[in-house]
Amino acid sequence: METDELQLLREQAAARQFIDSEFTALFAPEDEALRSAVEAISAHNMPQIAISPLRGRMLQVLALACGARKILEIGALAGYSGIWLARSLPPGGRLISLEVSEQHAEVARASFARAGVSDRAEVRVGPAQELLPILTGEAPFDLVFIDADKPGYLVYLDWALRLTRMGGIIVADNCIRRGSPLRQSDDPGTAALGEYDRRVAHDPRLVSVALPIAEGGLDGFAVSVVVAPPKATAS
Ligand code: DHB
Ligand code: MG
Repeated sequence: METDELQLLREQAAARQFIDSEFTALFAPEDEALRSAVEAISAHNMPQIAISPLRGRMLQVLALACGARKILEIGALAGYSGIWLARSLPPGGRLISLEVSEQHAEVARASFARAGVSDRAEVRVGPAQELLPILTGEAPFDLVFIDADKPGYLVYLDWALRLTRMGGIIVADNCIRRGSPLRQSDDPGTAALGEYDRRVAHDPRLVSVALPIAEGGLDGFAVSVVVAPPKATAS
């Protein structure tokens, strides 16, 4: 006999699944180019960690809300999120996507080409910690999206604060992860995510929130609006 608790859990899981699939179909349907980017992930044996369509749509909403013309992405993977971001840009807008793997960068470039955004979206290859300082001359950015190696998130946040204009937005994927970042953790990536959440929650240069927009509400974005000019942020 099934307990009431089990029944409730089943109903909640079914509701999450319903919400994910129906609201994805309503707000974030994928076209051929986005589907191809997803397929490229499997075809090239890349990790299955691309953002979901609803997260992609959320990135577009945020980019449009801050009038983004120049976007920086840290972690391109197969270019899936980059397509969503590039498609939010106005004519003449620019996306720079950093990727540590030359092979992944090639896949991302092919995704951008299929999506018809190669004119405004480029992938730069190398460790972000080396590429970010070189971007100072191309700052300020309107939106920075962090979705790379988790132990690096704190360094990426420091750079995002230097490189983002006042009124711009910094988004970080995976800042909820079933609450694990807020528990004590020996895993350097999980610990860094927790410290990231605490920093953006308390930093007076930012107004932030964690949005449970992934994995049925169990993971999601930390979203921060920059409320101080970048020159006051360099440390
Ligand atoms: C992992 C990384 C991600 O960016 C993500 O969205 C999910 C998982 C990972 O490294 O495990
Ligand atoms: Mg991620």
